[in-house]
Amino acid sequence: MSALVVVAGATGNLGGRIARALRERGADVVAPVRPGTARERLAPLCALGATVVPVDLRDGSGLARAIAGASCVVSALNGLGDVIVEAQTALLDAAVAAGVPRFVPSDYSIDFTRLPPGRNRNLDLRREFHGRLEDRAIAATTVFCGAFADLLAGRMPLVLFKRRRVLYWSDADLRMDFTTAADTAAFTACAALDPSTPRFLRIAGDRLSARELAAVATGVTGESFRVLRAGSLGMLGALIAVARAVAPGRGEPFPAWQGMQYLRDMFDGRARLAPLDNDRYPGLRWTRARDVLMAREAARRGRP
Ligand SMILES: NC(=O)c1ccc[n+]([C@@H]2O[C@H](COP(=O)([O-])OP(=O)(O)OC[C@H]3O[C@@H](n4cnc5c(N)ncnc54)[C@H](OP(=O)(O)O)[C@@H]3O)[C@@H](O)[C@H]2O)c1
Repeated sequence: MSALVVVAGATGNLGGRIARALRERGADVVAPVRPGTARERLAPLCALGATVVPVDLRDGSGLARAIAGASCVVSALNGLGDVIVEAQTALLDAAVAAGVPRFVPSDYSIDFTRLPPGRNRNLDLRREFHGRLEDRAIAATTVFCGAFADLLAGRMPLVLFKRRRVLYWSDADLRMDFTTAADTAAFTACAALDPSTPRFLRIAGDRLSARELAAVATGVTGESFRVLRAGSLGMLGALIAVARAVAPGRGEPFPAWQGMQYLRDMFDGRARLAPLDNDRYPGLRWTRARDVLMAREAARRGRP
């Protein structure tokens, strides 16, 4: 009999990839989705052969019925406190009520257990949820993956393609962890199907410093990239406070200052991932930063 895994947040980027990776590994997938979700948004999940169940996460008994018989609930929900703390707690309680033995919370980040609380809003929400998770009679496994390497292609203000610079704060040689969303999803699917996972798993498709990123960008584009010191971590902290006051972005999961908090915590070094669990499952291929930048370059030049 195939394993049955629940993926919450399967209409999203990472959740959809996890659902696909689970189906590729022969698992049955149940995807609870918000009632009223447009049919075209569900079509990719239906095409995968996932069982889509419209149910409000606050409907505890309906949710528990939908997920009964699963061996693991994987959360790829995204949002602020109402989602990461409250909706995930509803999902967690339904998993416990339905007798599901394992839960993967929506963490997929740098290792915030090694950072003090109060310095990164989104990571604090995940920390708060962990407090509830540790209280429940269910085994939990977090997947830490560093930053999504996909963000290096532009959305993360680290590689400045037009200026041919790679920004750094304090230390151009401090290595940081990057994993693509696809590789994170493949590993998470393996972990969801593995009954003997520890509390924390750590993966990094690539780890490189600002200086190494500049060398990769130079090799890929043929243009000379150099590192540019943006300032000290203390200065970045002060800038975050200003950005947060000027453009608070209330209700937004990812305002500019939140991205700056992630950058500060990556350049801080304490949240680096070690030891790595990359080799835990055979057959996984890790995408390097070079592959991400090469795909960007090919798209820019109009090649597939
Ligand atoms: N390490 C990194 O660099 C990095 C980068 C990006 C994301 N992540 C992490 O990856 C995880 C998933 O992020 P993502 O980018 O895949 O998110 P996403 O694309 O925004 O998808 C979020 C999912 O959560 C669902 N959702 C949100 N609120 C809900 C609610 N109240 N009830 C039911 N469903 C709800 C959404 O449903 P609807 O479709 O109905 O809205 C969607 O399926 C998060 O933990 C995020 O922090 C990490």
